[in-house]
Amino acid sequence: MDEKKVMLSGIQPSGDLHLGNYLGAIKNWAARTEEFECYYFMADMHTITVRQTPADLRRRTLEQLAQYIACGLDPEKNTLFIQSHVPQHAELGWVLNCYTMFGELSRMTQFKDKSAKHKDNINGGLFTYPALMAADILLYQPDFVPVGEDQKQHVELTRNIVQRFNGVYGDVFKMPEPYIPKAGARVMGLTTPDSKMSKSIPEGCVFLMERPEDIQRKFKRAITDSDTENPVRYDPASKPGVANLMNIYSAVTGKSFDKIEEEFAGQGYGKFKPAVGEAVVETLRPIREEATRILADKAYLESVYKAGAEKASYVANKTLRKVYKKVGFVAR
Ligand code: TYM
Repeated sequence: MDEKKVMLSGIQPSGDLHLGNYLGAIKNWAARTEEFECYYFMADMHTITVRQTPADLRRRTLEQLAQYIACGLDPEKNTLFIQSHVPQHAELGWVLNCYTMFGELSRMTQFKDKSAKHKDNINGGLFTYPALMAADILLYQPDFVPVGEDQKQHVELTRNIVQRFNGVYGDVFKMPEPYIPKAGARVMGLTTPDSKMSKSIPEGCVFLMERPEDIQRKFKRAITDSDTENPVRYDPASKPGVANLMNIYSAVTGKSFDKIEEEFAGQGYGKFKPAVGEAVVETLRPIREEATRILADKAYLESVYKAGAEKASYVANKTLRKVYKKVGFVAR
């Protein structure tokens, strides 16, 4: 029998999970459980590139795990772990730092954005973050890395590192590919349709654990435009707010843009916005209920992340040993 292909991805527990994380990443992961060998983690080491309140980081890491499971990631079939529990990430991260160029790191959009936002804390970790992300990926030799559009640049950089490293030492790392969903790859803020949905603008950000009435309120206040002729139609350049809502509606219902235009033909935003809100509420309701239930069982969560770290460590160590040997470190 052919071996299953490998998938790997992670999310920073820097804030509560939101609709962008769900549609851009997690939804895509859960759908692929049977087909792939899957590794998903809480990227807590990345999170401290920006100052965190320790107790919040700890709480959110566990909440994120409960939400992964509630989104359909069965821990029996997926390896779910906390990044800092697998020390090989930091170890390979250092090695890959030495194979990542200053110029490459300087071009990263996430670095530019975050250093503009946190001017008082432009630390070395924020700058070299993509080398750690490359290590996260390459330790598990994945075929695919399912992420939203904004992380594509980091996966491309990882591919450059693979080429550089393998060019010197032979076939050490498998070349990974970004795996980006058709609908939901770039969910924009409901109040800022020109920038991605992110927790930093909470009014336009829908969180997975939010109450239905709050979600509805955010959708009702979503920015659209003053078009009354033919309002619900897909035209991202001149109607970015509507395109974003259509994109969200399409991602949660599976309907095409043509179908959505047909469904709302002759109707205004007063009908359209609450319909999108309702579809999102119904998608998130079972996730929220299940996550609340799982989060109450701390012993279960602990058993999941411990087993996950053990399995991840075993696989990661194989790659790390190979790398250490190649670069000339004496075997332990
Ligand atoms: P992070 O934590 O910012 O986001 C996690 C995932 O959610 C996706 N995403 C979005 N997708 C669509 N629309 C949005 N508005 C939106 N916002 C976020 C992201 O693309 C991502 O897939 N560096 C990564 C975390 C990471 C990682 C890794 C990912 C660390 N190591 C290894 C993959 C493999 C990050 O900061 O994602």
